[in-house]
Amino acid sequence: MNSVLMAYLNERRSAPILEAPGPGRAQIQEIVTCACSVPDHRRLVPWRVIAVEDGSRELLGELWARHLAESVNEAASLMRNVRRAPVILVCVFSPKQQVKVPRDEQLITAGLASYTILMAANALGFGGYWRTGRAAYNRPLAEELGLEEHESIAGYLYLGTVAEPLTLRPRPTVDKLPLDFAFQASALECN
Ligand SMILES: Cc1cc2nc3c(=O)[nH]c(=O)nc-3n(C[C@H](O)[C@H](O)[C@H](O)COP(=O)(O)O)c2cc1C
Repeated sequence: MNSVLMAYLNERRSAPILEAPGPGRAQIQEIVTCACSVPDHRRLVPWRVIAVEDGSRELLGELWARHLAESVNEAASLMRNVRRAPVILVCVFSPKQQVKVPRDEQLITAGLASYTILMAANALGFGGYWRTGRAAYNRPLAEELGLEEHESIAGYLYLGTVAEPLTLRPRPTVDKLPLDFAFQASALECN
């Protein structure tokens, strides 16, 4: 048994407060390489990542402000949001068209890639936080970010150094698990 991995999976937490340093370019490449190992029906790779590094964060903030802000205060708040982490990886859902794999399955793979990015960042010693919100669902914003018509944003993955200790998430007791052992031969109706 790999008890280190079990403990990690049980105790993994998102880190809302992140600071510099974030992963460098080589580390970002390592992180995204890990995401390429997720279950992926027909190996379509229905996702891609736009890396927003320290130097280009402000540009992303300006993009958000331009498309989402209705007041100067709101623009300032969006600019603050973008500074929540030194690195933001935008995971883009990029479904392959005219293939047999349903779109839903491809979206699951994009979600798995996003989660793996968070886990790989943890493995390199960084924290991460998956955010969406208005900045993920605004079409003109997405287009200016370079997304094609069939693409959408699966998540903004904030990565950086954990700035505040993380507390353990409350766990359900065994009897409250979303888990059912009731499916068995005797439970099936026989016609
Ligand atoms: C698709 C998706 C979108 C999310 N969007 C947001 C978000 O916009 N803002 C937020 O605070 N949390 C968001 N979350 C939840 C956090 O990333 C995080 O999982 C949650 O706060 C629970 O923390 P934990 O991962 O440490 O258990 C999102 C999660 C997923 C899977």
